[in-house]
Amino acid sequence: MTDLDGEVFKVPVQDLISFGGIVAEDIISARGSVIIPKGTRLAMLGDSVLLLIRHLLDEGIGYVHVRRDDHVEQDALDSFIDQVINSNVIIDPEVASKSINEIKGLFDSIRTQHITPELLSPITEVAKELLEQILTKPKILFSVAKVHRWDEYTFVHSFNTAAISGFLAHRMAPESAETAVLGGLLHDLGKARIPLEILNKPGPLTNEEFNVMKSHPVLGEKLARELGIDDPDVLAIIRSHHERWCGSGYPDGKAGEDIPLLSRIVAVADAFDAMTSERSYKRAVPFRDAVNTIIVDGGTHFDPKVSRLLLTSFGMYPPGSVVELSDKSIGVVVSSGGEDLLRPVIMIKVNPDGSLSDALRLLDLKRSELRIQRYLGWEGKRAL
Ligand SMILES: [Fe+2]
Repeated sequence: MTDLDGEVFKVPVQDLISFGGIVAEDIISARGSVIIPKGTRLAMLGDSVLLLIRHLLDEGIGYVHVRRDDHVEQDALDSFIDQVINSNVIIDPEVASKSINEIKGLFDSIRTQHITPELLSPITEVAKELLEQILTKPKILFSVAKVHRWDEYTFVHSFNTAAISGFLAHRMAPESAETAVLGGLLHDLGKARIPLEILNKPGPLTNEEFNVMKSHPVLGEKLARELGIDDPDVLAIIRSHHERWCGSGYPDGKAGEDIPLLSRIVAVADAFDAMTSERSYKRAVPFRDAVNTIIVDGGTHFDPKVSRLLLTSFGMYPPGSVVELSDKSIGVVVSSGGEDLLRPVIMIKVNPDGSLSDALRLLDLKRSELRIQRYLGWEGKRAL
């Protein structure tokens, strides 16, 4: 048997217990039903692999074709991404352009006139409207707004960051979603105090310019206080959105959970939107590469929980994701689903009636009417 990778092994059933690969073709019973679908990751079966071995031996099956588990199904990911790009509904364009204009208005006012708390009320209004939109969307949206002029970048980016942050916060800390949206809109407020020739420079910054730019979180927090913001969570987002999980960020070098949760959420949203945006001096990073970077940097730059949430928010369920299905059963994703990442193979752990499943039951959602209803958590041994 051949495979595109040339890495398919014929593994005796008894050896499956120590073999952590991907089932290379459907394992069919004597009666023609699929016992284990192609694409199942053996490592994800855990102790259930013992049940599988017994079942296969009972069926008289002696060997299984297994592919080495060392690559991402990139073609599948590409086609999925195209699907998402072409099918997603975007945030109401009126709400988007209103948000962007209000942020621009706030920045312009800060540059040209006295700072008064009245400047803030249109932004808090917009944050409410934006949150309403976010709450009605089943999946996160990316590139929710496009930059038309280079000097608009800061405002469009603030809007996108707010939308993504609100979406993530709604799933991690629902009571804080509105704060996350407002903080997202204002996270780069300090850039209103950065000279325009640095802020809108059509090229990479020099070290000296970068140091000026790095003062924006502290300048932003000060400005926010002058605008009358006293919510410590909003202030923390503005001050701490460039802190890194491993402690190498700025301005305070905080690490891990010392960084407030909403700041960790905005940090992921901020980085994701910055990567996927085109600037005058850099091309947009493809969406899949940006998601990959966020996942790979989870645990170093980013809170790994927030990184994974970004991935599952796009409707991708990597092996190890614990999900609830439309019949209320609960299972663990054991394969990323081949060409359809929204319909992976699930190992059922809890039956629809709430009882624990004591038999080995694998379900290929591509062959089922059931669909994933909710992401519940993570039981993974490895990411993508
Ligand atoms: Fe920033």
